[in-house]
Amino acid sequence: MLERVADDDLPHIVALMNRAYRGSGASAGWNSEAGYISGDRTTESLLKADLLAKPDASFFKWIAPSSGQISGCVWLEPEADGAWYLGSLATDPDQQNAGLGKTLLSAAEAWVREQGGTRVRMTVVNVRDTLIAWYVRRGYRTTGETQPFPYGDNRFGTPLRDDLAFVVLEKVLEPV
Ligand SMILES: CC(C)(COP(=O)(O)OP(=O)(O)OC[C@H]1O[C@@H](n2cnc3c(N)ncnc32)[C@H](O)[C@@H]1OP(=O)(O)O)[C@@H](O)C(=O)NCCC(=O)NCCS
Repeated sequence: MLERVADDDLPHIVALMNRAYRGSGASAGWNSEAGYISGDRTTESLLKADLLAKPDASFFKWIAPSSGQISGCVWLEPEADGAWYLGSLATDPDQQNAGLGKTLLSAAEAWVREQGGTRVRMTVVNVRDTLIAWYVRRGYRTTGETQPFPYGDNRFGTPLRDDLAFVVLEKVLEPV
Protein backbone atom coordinates (compact mmCIF):
# COMPACT_ATOMS: atom_id res chain seq x y z
CA MET A 1 0.00 0.00 0.00
CA LEU A 2 1.33 3.43 -0.97
CA GLU A 3 1.23 6.08 1.75
CA ARG A 4 2.81 9.49 1.83
CA VAL A 5 6.14 9.70 3.59
CA ALA A 6 5.83 11.62 6.87
CA ASP A 7 8.70 13.55 8.47
CA ASP A 8 9.26 10.88 11.09
CA ASP A 9 9.59 8.20 8.36
CA LEU A 10 12.64 9.93 6.90
CA PRO A 11 15.34 8.17 8.98
CA HIS A 12 13.92 4.77 7.96
CA ILE A 13 13.57 5.83 4.30
CA VAL A 14 17.12 7.22 4.18
CA ALA A 15 18.52 3.97 5.60
CA LEU A 16 16.46 1.89 3.16
CA MET A 17 17.52 3.97 0.13
CA ASN A 18 21.20 3.91 1.11
CA ARG A 19 21.15 0.13 1.57
CA ALA A 20 19.23 -0.38 -1.69
CA TYR A 21 21.40 1.93 -3.82
CA ARG A 22 24.79 1.56 -2.18
CA GLY A 23 24.71 -1.61 -0.09
CA SER A 24 27.71 -3.91 -0.39
CA GLY A 25 28.63 -7.44 0.57
CA ALA A 26 26.14 -10.11 1.52
CA SER A 27 23.39 -7.64 2.44
CA ALA A 28 23.46 -5.78 -0.91
CA GLY A 29 20.55 -5.87 -3.32
CA TRP A 30 20.99 -7.31 -6.80
CA ASN A 31 21.60 -3.95 -8.52
CA SER A 32 23.56 -1.93 -5.96
CA GLU A 33 25.58 0.97 -7.39
CA ALA A 34 28.43 0.42 -4.89
CA GLY A 35 30.80 -0.81 -7.62
CA TYR A 36 30.85 2.56 -9.37
CA ILE A 37 29.53 5.16 -6.88
CA SER A 38 30.75 5.22 -3.28
CA GLY A 39 29.10 6.85 -0.29
CA ASP A 40 25.48 7.40 0.61
CA ARG A 41 22.76 7.99 -1.97
CA THR A 42 20.88 10.45 0.24
CA THR A 43 20.49 12.05 3.67
CA GLU A 44 17.54 13.33 5.66
CA SER A 45 18.50 16.93 4.92
CA LEU A 46 18.69 16.28 1.16
CA LEU A 47 15.26 14.63 1.14
CA LYS A 48 13.79 17.44 3.24
CA ALA A 49 15.27 20.01 0.86
CA ASP A 50 13.81 18.14 -2.15
CA LEU A 51 10.37 17.99 -0.53
CA LEU A 52 10.48 21.72 0.22
CA ALA A 53 11.77 22.66 -3.23
CA LYS A 54 9.23 20.50 -5.09
CA PRO A 55 5.81 20.95 -3.48
CA ASP A 56 4.09 19.33 -6.51
CA ALA A 57 6.01 16.09 -6.00
CA SER A 58 4.70 13.16 -3.95
CA PHE A 59 7.00 10.90 -1.99
CA PHE A 60 5.48 7.56 -1.05
CA LYS A 61 6.47 4.73 1.23
CA TRP A 62 5.32 1.18 0.59
CA ILE A 63 3.82 -0.49 3.63
CA ALA A 64 3.99 -4.27 3.51
CA PRO A 65 0.44 -5.51 4.23
CA SER A 66 1.76 -8.54 6.15
CA SER A 67 4.10 -6.71 8.56
CA GLY A 68 2.93 -3.09 8.46
CA GLN A 69 6.61 -2.16 7.96
CA ILE A 70 8.06 0.26 5.40
CA SER A 71 9.61 -1.91 2.70
CA GLY A 72 10.02 0.50 -0.20
CA CYS A 73 9.62 4.03 -1.51
CA VAL A 74 9.02 5.98 -4.71
CA TRP A 75 9.08 9.66 -5.73
CA LEU A 76 6.58 10.96 -8.32
CA GLU A 77 6.67 14.44 -9.79
CA PRO A 78 4.59 16.01 -12.56
CA GLU A 79 6.38 17.22 -15.68
CA ALA A 80 4.96 18.66 -18.91
CA ASP A 81 2.40 17.10 -21.29
CA GLY A 82 1.08 14.31 -19.07
CA ALA A 83 4.52 13.04 -18.12
CA TRP A 84 5.48 12.21 -14.52
CA TYR A 85 9.04 11.77 -13.34
CA LEU A 86 9.55 8.63 -11.24
CA GLY A 87 12.61 8.46 -9.00
CA SER A 88 13.97 6.93 -5.80
CA LEU A 89 12.20 3.64 -6.48
CA ALA A 90 13.75 1.34 -3.90
CA THR A 91 12.89 -1.84 -2.05
CA ASP A 92 14.50 -3.21 1.10
CA PRO A 93 17.44 -5.37 -0.10
CA ASP A 94 16.38 -8.10 2.35
CA GLN A 95 13.10 -8.36 0.45
CA GLN A 96 14.36 -7.97 -3.13
CA ASN A 97 13.83 -10.41 -5.98
CA ALA A 98 10.48 -11.52 -4.58
CA GLY A 99 8.15 -9.35 -6.68
CA LEU A 100 7.96 -6.27 -4.44
CA GLY A 101 9.67 -3.95 -6.95
CA LYS A 102 7.16 -4.90 -9.65
CA THR A 103 4.25 -4.41 -7.24
CA LEU A 104 5.56 -1.01 -6.15
CA LEU A 105 6.21 0.14 -9.73
CA SER A 106 2.70 -0.93 -10.82
CA ALA A 107 1.14 0.89 -7.86
CA ALA A 108 3.12 4.04 -8.74
CA GLU A 109 1.97 3.84 -12.37
CA ALA A 110 -1.65 3.32 -11.27
CA TRP A 111 -1.40 6.39 -9.03
CA VAL A 112 -0.02 8.46 -11.93
CA ARG A 113 -2.95 7.30 -14.09
CA GLU A 114 -5.38 8.39 -11.37
CA GLN A 115 -3.81 11.86 -11.53
CA GLY A 116 -4.45 11.94 -15.29
CA GLY A 117 -0.84 11.20 -16.21
CA THR A 118 -0.18 9.44 -19.50
CA ARG A 119 3.58 8.76 -19.38
CA VAL A 120 6.22 7.91 -16.80
CA ARG A 121 9.79 9.06 -17.30
CA MET A 122 12.94 8.33 -15.34
CA THR A 123 16.70 8.57 -15.50
CA VAL A 124 18.98 5.60 -14.90
CA VAL A 125 22.78 5.53 -14.73
CA ASN A 126 23.99 4.29 -18.12
CA VAL A 127 26.07 1.35 -16.84
CA ARG A 128 23.17 -0.25 -14.94
CA ASP A 129 22.41 -2.80 -17.66
CA THR A 130 20.51 -5.27 -15.50
CA LEU A 131 18.32 -2.51 -14.03
CA ILE A 132 17.60 -1.02 -17.47
CA ALA A 133 16.66 -4.54 -18.65
CA TRP A 134 14.31 -4.83 -15.62
CA TYR A 135 12.54 -1.61 -16.65
CA VAL A 136 12.38 -2.71 -20.30
CA ARG A 137 10.62 -5.91 -19.15
CA ARG A 138 8.11 -3.60 -17.41
CA GLY A 139 7.36 -1.73 -20.69
CA TYR A 140 9.90 1.12 -20.49
CA ARG A 141 11.95 2.19 -23.52
CA THR A 142 15.13 4.21 -23.75
CA THR A 143 14.29 7.52 -25.41
CA GLY A 144 17.78 8.22 -26.76
CA GLU A 145 18.07 11.24 -24.46
CA THR A 146 20.94 11.40 -22.00
CA GLN A 147 21.72 13.73 -19.11
CA PRO A 148 25.16 14.44 -17.67
CA PHE A 149 26.26 12.80 -14.43
CA PRO A 150 26.82 15.54 -11.81
CA TYR A 151 30.61 15.16 -11.57
CA GLY A 152 31.96 17.53 -8.93
CA ASP A 153 28.76 17.42 -6.85
CA ASN A 154 29.29 14.61 -4.37
CA ARG A 155 26.10 15.09 -2.38
CA PHE A 156 24.67 11.85 -3.83
CA GLY A 157 27.92 9.86 -3.65
CA THR A 158 31.34 9.89 -5.27
CA PRO A 159 31.65 8.41 -8.75
CA LEU A 160 34.42 5.83 -9.10
CA ARG A 161 34.66 6.05 -12.90
CA ASP A 162 34.55 8.87 -15.39
CA ASP A 163 32.11 7.55 -18.00
CA LEU A 164 28.82 7.80 -16.10
CA ALA A 165 25.76 9.54 -17.53
CA PHE A 166 22.01 9.14 -17.18
CA VAL A 167 19.83 7.58 -19.84
CA VAL A 168 16.17 8.61 -19.99
CA LEU A 169 13.53 5.88 -20.03
CA GLU A 170 9.86 6.35 -20.72
CA LYS A 171 6.67 4.29 -20.65
CA VAL A 172 3.38 5.32 -22.19
CA LEU A 173 0.61 4.27 -19.79
CA GLU A 174 -2.28 2.30 -21.22
CA PRO A 175 -5.62 4.00 -20.56
CA VAL A 176 -7.60 2.10 -17.91
C1 LIG B 1 15.04 -1.90 -8.69
C2 LIG B 1 14.35 -2.46 -7.47
C3 LIG B 1 13.29 -1.48 -6.98
C4 LIG B 1 13.66 -3.79 -7.88
O1 LIG B 1 13.06 -4.32 -6.73
P1 LIG B 1 12.87 -5.91 -6.48
O2 LIG B 1 12.03 -5.99 -5.24
O3 LIG B 1 14.17 -6.62 -6.51
O4 LIG B 1 12.04 -6.29 -7.80
P2 LIG B 1 11.26 -7.63 -8.19
O5 LIG B 1 11.45 -8.66 -7.13
O6 LIG B 1 9.89 -7.28 -8.58
O7 LIG B 1 12.02 -8.08 -9.53
C5 LIG B 1 13.19 -8.86 -9.47
C6 LIG B 1 13.72 -9.01 -10.88
O8 LIG B 1 15.14 -8.90 -10.83
C7 LIG B 1 15.71 -9.95 -11.58
N1 LIG B 1 17.02 -10.21 -11.00
C8 LIG B 1 17.28 -10.67 -9.76
N2 LIG B 1 18.61 -10.77 -9.57
C9 LIG B 1 19.18 -10.35 -10.72
C10 LIG B 1 20.53 -10.22 -11.15
N3 LIG B 1 21.57 -10.54 -10.35
N4 LIG B 1 20.77 -9.76 -12.40
C11 LIG B 1 19.74 -9.43 -13.21
N5 LIG B 1 18.43 -9.51 -12.86
C12 LIG B 1 18.17 -9.97 -11.62
C13 LIG B 1 14.72 -11.07 -11.42
O9 LIG B 1 14.88 -12.02 -12.47
C14 LIG B 1 13.39 -10.31 -11.54
O10 LIG B 1 13.13 -9.98 -12.89
P3 LIG B 1 11.77 -10.40 -13.65
O11 LIG B 1 10.66 -10.36 -12.67
O12 LIG B 1 11.63 -9.40 -14.77
O13 LIG B 1 12.04 -11.77 -14.12
C15 LIG B 1 15.35 -2.77 -6.32
O14 LIG B 1 16.27 -3.72 -6.77
C16 LIG B 1 16.11 -1.58 -5.78
O15 LIG B 1 15.71 -1.01 -4.77
N6 LIG B 1 17.26 -1.23 -6.40
C17 LIG B 1 18.15 -0.16 -5.86
C18 LIG B 1 17.57 1.20 -6.03
C19 LIG B 1 17.50 1.59 -7.48
O16 LIG B 1 18.49 1.64 -8.16
N7 LIG B 1 16.28 1.90 -7.98
C20 LIG B 1 16.06 2.28 -9.35
C21 LIG B 1 16.27 3.71 -9.54
S1 LIG B 1 16.07 4.20 -11.24
